[in-house]
Amino acid sequence: MKGHWFWGCARDLAADRTQFLIDGHQEHGEVFVSRALIRDLMFVRDPAVVNAINVTYWADFYKPDYIKMMWKPFLGNGLVPNDGESWKRQHKLIMPGFHKKRVDAYAQTMVEFTDRMVDRWEEGEQRDMRLELNALALEVVADTLFDIDIGRGDSETIRDALADISEILVTDADKMIPRPDWWPTAENRRKKRAIAKIEEIIRRVHDERRMNKTDRGDLFSHMVFVEDEQGGMSDKQLRDEAMTLIFAGHETTAHALTWTWYLLAKNPDKVANMRDELGKVLQGRRAGVEDLPNLPYLEMVVKESLRLLPSVWAYARQAQRDLVIEGYEIKKGQTITISHIAMGRNPKYYENPMEFRPERWTREFERSLPRGAYVPFAGGPRVCLGKQFAMMEMRMILATLLQRIEPNLSEGFEPDFVTELSMHPGERGMQADVHFY
Ligand code: HEM
Repeated sequence: MKGHWFWGCARDLAADRTQFLIDGHQEHGEVFVSRALIRDLMFVRDPAVVNAINVTYWADFYKPDYIKMMWKPFLGNGLVPNDGESWKRQHKLIMPGFHKKRVDAYAQTMVEFTDRMVDRWEEGEQRDMRLELNALALEVVADTLFDIDIGRGDSETIRDALADISEILVTDADKMIPRPDWWPTAENRRKKRAIAKIEEIIRRVHDERRMNKTDRGDLFSHMVFVEDEQGGMSDKQLRDEAMTLIFAGHETTAHALTWTWYLLAKNPDKVANMRDELGKVLQGRRAGVEDLPNLPYLEMVVKESLRLLPSVWAYARQAQRDLVIEGYEIKKGQTITISHIAMGRNPKYYENPMEFRPERWTREFERSLPRGAYVPFAGGPRVCLGKQFAMMEMRMILATLLQRIEPNLSEGFEPDFVTELSMHPGERGMQADVHFY
């Protein structure tokens, strides 16, 4: 794909990242290459290639250098940017903390916190669902992963700091040439201040856990006390993993829920189906994790929402050696963007892709999809560690909300679509009017 003689595709990409991916694949096929300033980028939505990168050749692909450089001051060497032997060790140490039994035990907290949020609302008032769901997801992560009942103050500090970091990192990513961290620009100073605020909260929890020397059953305790033959994690590694989990574990889910709210508000017939199912199964009581297998429509809604408006709209890899995958030559050092949002709108696999149709997610339909066609949580060994956690959290929160509150948008409100580290509706938020059933 040709672009501007100097910028290549960099300016188009920065102007509207998701539209660039969607249009690019529509016009140039399942795999295309485009230059962004000094870098040739490969964009992929072919399921076979995606599956090969995620599964077959996963060890031959790392996170891209320039992205790691940008993430370093923020996530350090946490699980998301880590690679190679260091990633393998950390993954092995942390994975038991995401055991199904442990995650299942968090379901009641998710329901209680959702009820607590709704209890604060009043009939007829306007609420920004992006803000509400962000605060809720952060409270859930803080309680379940760190065992701290985060005060509203901490929640706002983390939210504002992450918003600053996310905006600056994505602007840097567009430029493809990260500004060095020591460069005394206003943005670097803002980024450092934001990171320091979250570090301060992590340090507080760490000091407290170390002093008390008790495993409280939360993931942070697991990380503080877990050991292998090399011993435990260093303080720096623990800080990086905690930062990574706060970042990866709440914005992604909060924004996925915000888009689900939006899609439901636009499709009252789907809300009616959902409420019908919830009514039959729960008969007015709170949902428990044991109810989830009996709520298939709820799961379909979540899957369809993650297809059409995925919060993690793309992710990237860099080849560590020359390879040929499905006939495509990939040179060592090649950066590849896996365009999850473009994959979800591929008419080859999804009939009327722009339609929000949860009913399409039957078992037969899922079986008919080629491997690699639907990977909102990535796949293979680098699959999202919080996948079960997020799938459960989204369903528990929706089941609780939908029993009490009607999904809607305030009169005349339409959200923006802002693609930073995750896709969200921007500063105008997702305005809704509170209507209790
Ligand atoms: C709807 C919600 C979520 C979505 C769509 C999502 C999606 C993803 C994706 C696509 C990746 C791969 C990124 C890459 O390879 O560059 C990833 C990685 C990761 N996610 Fe999630 N995620 C979600 C929620 C969560 C939650 C709730 C947690 C933790 C509680 C979490 C923790 C992680 C971690 C630790 C990784 C790195 C895994 C590794 O490379 O070993 N995520 N996620």
